[in-house]
Amino acid sequence: MSTIKIAPSLLAADFGNLQRDVEMVNQSEAAWHHLDIMDGLFVPNISYGMPLVKTISKFATKPLDTHLMIVDPDRYIQTFSDLGVYLLTVHYEACSHLHRTVQAIKATGMKAGVALNPHTNVELLKNIIGDLDLVLIMSVNPGFGGQSFIPNTYDKVRTLKQMIKEHNASALIEVDGGVSMDNAAKLIEAGADVLVAGSYVFKSKNPTATIAELAHVVIS
Ligand code: DX5
Ligand code: ZN
Repeated sequence: MSTIKIAPSLLAADFGNLQRDVEMVNQSEAAWHHLDIMDGLFVPNISYGMPLVKTISKFATKPLDTHLMIVDPDRYIQTFSDLGVYLLTVHYEACSHLHRTVQAIKATGMKAGVALNPHTNVELLKNIIGDLDLVLIMSVNPGFGGQSFIPNTYDKVRTLKQMIKEHNASALIEVDGGVSMDNAAKLIEAGADVLVAGSYVFKSKNPTATIAELAHVVIS
């Protein structure tokens, strides 16, 4: 049995029954709630903003793992902290001064994560890895739920795990996009610590059981 953390992505929840879906995650074996914020600029889609985060925050009993897919995320660091976010992840590709942004997130008391698009080389994090609480490897191009997993992700996770070890760093590795029972074991074997799953959880017949299944993936 692994000690993988599962973070269901509420992007795939039924917004008409948001309280019910957040409470399902509360009562499941999930570790975190994953929130996807898209601005229609950094990614070609708009998801939801502060009012919905506030509602989720009101009902959620597990830490809020918030993934910002927005340009110039520094503008909203304090806002997300005030909304009760536990871990704030910004995109490497959206930050000109990533070190400053990471320090600003940590100064609020939140944990800091950096996300990498599928084309972004993990080596680019070498000089900042010791400052990070989490690295999010995108296993699809960000912007939409329900896309197919990109297999190159396994190599990226392995390389990143090695880098973290070499630097004696403690960043967790999170994988986001197209995660299912088809790739979960291989991702954990490669070094993933947190798996985000949207469609695979919420479109399943029994989301609570699906979360449990992912949380108990057996690796060889
Ligand atoms: C995509 C988001 C993901 C998405 C995952 O841009 O970052 O968190 O909700 O959804 P699935 O698991 O359906 O690929
Ligand atoms: Zn995400």
